[in-house]
Amino acid sequence: MPVNDKNAFLDEALNSRKEDQQFRTLSSVTPQPNSIEIEQDGNRYINFCSNDYLGLARHPKVIEQSRSYLERYGAGSTASRLISGTFDIHTQLEKELAKSLGREAALIFNSGFQANSSIVGTVTDRHSLILADKLSHNSLLQGALAGRASFQRFNHNDIEHLELLLQQADGKYNRIWILTETVFSMDGDRSPIKEISSLADKYNAHLFVDDAHAVGAWGDRGLGLAKDLSGVDILLGTCGKAFGSFGAYVACSNKMREYLINFCSGFIFTTALPPAVIGAINASLKLIPQLEEERAVYHQKIQHVRKEIQSLGFDTGPSTTQIIPIILGSEKATIGLADLLKEQGILASAIRPPTVPKNSSRIRLTLSLSHTDEHIKVLLKTLKKWQNG
Ligand SMILES: Cc1ncc(COP(=O)(O)O)c(C=O)c1O
Repeated sequence: MPVNDKNAFLDEALNSRKEDQQFRTLSSVTPQPNSIEIEQDGNRYINFCSNDYLGLARHPKVIEQSRSYLERYGAGSTASRLISGTFDIHTQLEKELAKSLGREAALIFNSGFQANSSIVGTVTDRHSLILADKLSHNSLLQGALAGRASFQRFNHNDIEHLELLLQQADGKYNRIWILTETVFSMDGDRSPIKEISSLADKYNAHLFVDDAHAVGAWGDRGLGLAKDLSGVDILLGTCGKAFGSFGAYVACSNKMREYLINFCSGFIFTTALPPAVIGAINASLKLIPQLEEERAVYHQKIQHVRKEIQSLGFDTGPSTTQIIPIILGSEKATIGLADLLKEQGILASAIRPPTVPKNSSRIRLTLSLSHTDEHIKVLLKTLKKWQNG
């Protein structure tokens, strides 16, 4: 029997990534106190790739409540939710989330990825159909692939295509789930969520909405863009972005909550979120609705920066939110601009295939309420320098 190198597949895959200039590596940074600036290899950078949209990761009230829960309840939740990991603070937080989001119930998950990748397969079976927006987050796709339902994608934000697929599917499946987001993570555009919700109603389909990048930043009292839509069966929000901490929640009906508690492996077979995280989420949930004035300033800042970037001749794609892509197309140019930004003290992520489609490599900027006028000045000055060659 020939002796094969059992790890040859590692070299093969990694070398191919390297040849395609798509090799990914990790680099560590140290956050600076009370600032969106970070340190890397002894240098200080302005972070334009953080999802801490409102700066809550370092808000004193968030840290204080996190600390007080840690001291009162300990470092870990010590068990899964169905065993002895449901503390009173988990239950209280779920009640508060449900109330804030105008739903009967809410259920906390350990992360958005864990929720999406496990719920989709749980609410469908081999007689079901999943219709997902083409640009849906990887976690939703993993959820669809993990189950046994038929799976089709509709063209990004294309209501007519979605309706055509719904018509074609009529009567062939036990249920149809539509999956979409409110704010898309790579392009920073929004979905026509009201129209999608109406279509779901019209065809008696279920709707799963991922509100990860809207919560905190957009919507009535910052509570997202799908809160008031009755046709949404599962409304997912994450707490690792504008909430400034970690974890995720689903807002839904009482019955859907009971179903997930009984059948969703990503909820059942994992240790419950620790007290310090529950404290932080709780504090952010109280803060977010109160930040109306700050959000108005934030929205103005976002519009101003995007307009300035466009006036320098850059393509910002369909962005209408705090996620502003600078689409350069070529990977080489994208890496070049990321390098120049870094040289000038700015950390911004160069996003390349396979994360985005071929020829759409980009710098993905995310704006935070914590960016100062000076930070923005440095960003715009550097982008101007790039355009002037
Ligand atoms: C749209 C969307 N959904 C879900 C997730 C996953 O959330 P989490 O970071 O909580 O795992 C992300 C984060 O990258 C995301 O952008």
